[in-house]
Amino acid sequence: MDLLDTQVYGLIGDEGFTRLVAAFYRRVATDEILSPMYPQHDMVGAEQRLRGFLIQRFGGPDTYSQQRGHPRLRMRHGPFKINRAGRDRWVELMEAALVEAALPPEAIPPLRKFFHDSATFMINAGE
Ligand code: HEM
Repeated sequence: MDLLDTQVYGLIGDEGFTRLVAAFYRRVATDEILSPMYPQHDMVGAEQRLRGFLIQRFGGPDTYSQQRGHPRLRMRHGPFKINRAGRDRWVELMEAALVEAALPPEAIPPLRKFFHDSATFMINAGE
């Protein structure tokens, strides 16, 4: 049986999401496409926002929405020019982070599907 999205948090917990998001932002920091888009003065905050959102999205506590309100992710990405190349790089770095985080194998398919689908949905620019 495939794991439901809401069961992922129960399996990997805060620690799993912390490892995953840390591995992702370590890559963002030196990436020539993505790093210029992110707030250099607040990478700790950026890491907390993504981690909190993912914890909530995958069955954990809803601390993210208590602090930031409804996710409205596409709207929140409006200020950033996200084209196919940016989307593909984001997914590539998250795939590498999934490998580095060494999560239990059952957790990977639901996370991977969400990342691929949502990143495509975030595209808001052609070039
Ligand atoms: C699976 C796809 C994605 C998810 C789940 C996601 C999630 C998030 C979340 C939760 C935030 C913080 C929103 C807030 O509370 O203000 C955020 C911010 C941001 N995202 Fe994404 N994102 C995705 C794809 C992308 C892509 C493809 C790009 C660029 C190519 C991108 C660039 C950014 C930037 C620059 C920020 C601002 C950093 C911050 O201050 O939090 N995101 N994203």
